[in-house]
Amino acid sequence: MEPTGLHVAIIMDGNGRWAQARGLPRVAGHRAGVEAVRRVVRAAPALGISTLTLYAFSADNWQRPQPEVTILMRLVHEYLLTETHPWAAHGIRVSVIGRRDRLSRGLREVIEAAEVATGQGGALHLRLAVDYSAREAIFRAACRFYKVTELSRDSFARVLGEVNHDGAADVDLLIRTGGEQRLSDFLLWESAYAELIFTPRMWPEFGAEDLDEAIAEFRARERRFGRVPDAAAGCGQRATQ
Ligand code: IPE
Ligand code: IPE
Ligand code: MG
Repeated sequence: MEPTGLHVAIIMDGNGRWAQARGLPRVAGHRAGVEAVRRVVRAAPALGISTLTLYAFSADNWQRPQPEVTILMRLVHEYLLTETHPWAAHGIRVSVIGRRDRLSRGLREVIEAAEVATGQGGALHLRLAVDYSAREAIFRAACRFYKVTELSRDSFARVLGEVNHDGAADVDLLIRTGGEQRLSDFLLWESAYAELIFTPRMWPEFGAEDLDEAIAEFRARERRFGRVPDAAAGCGQRATQ
């Protein structure tokens, strides 16, 4: 059963600039970024987060220089290998969303093994987006949709989940680090009513306190979903869940 709590999605941006500002190669930023991922995953369950989707590699990131792509793929591979056992022990279920056909066979196998080994976890659903493009996923879901007899937004969302290898509830809070204010083709369907937080902090510097602050800001916001404000209606829904 899918746990009930917040779905937080993070565009983990700023690794390269963080490294360059320190006179380091960009890949040093990616390595430091993995540590930030560890911090955030550790902190998430206690903050009421039940699903955490992290943008690790976009379909457009293939256009980066080959050595950087190779390192990024290696970091994903190593991260999955080292964390699978602790995730299973801590009730963290991992799934990887995005295309798999362009990944190496070794990485595909590690992904499948991690998904199987952690499949029973109920404390947190961790979704890593690798070779991910929201538009591509929506397009591929649309191509499959003609086979579906029940035509509804919910059934489309289910097909989209299948295309992504694993679905999830809509995003409640979407955070982007690194100062840019754009979505870069991330979770376009699922974020229709997400609250957005853009922070100038570079991803390698992001920690549990930043996530805590973002959640506090989220909880102070009023989500209206097209309705009138709480005060006018006399009732309504705050950003708590
Ligand atoms: C995000 O950091 C990590 C990935 C896109 C894989 P960047 O590598 O985009 O860092 P900046 O934006 O160049 O600083
Ligand atoms: C988005 O960051 C992708 C990830 C964080 C994995 P980018 O750095 O690739 O996005 P743009 O190019 O600035 O839009
Ligand atoms: Mg970037």
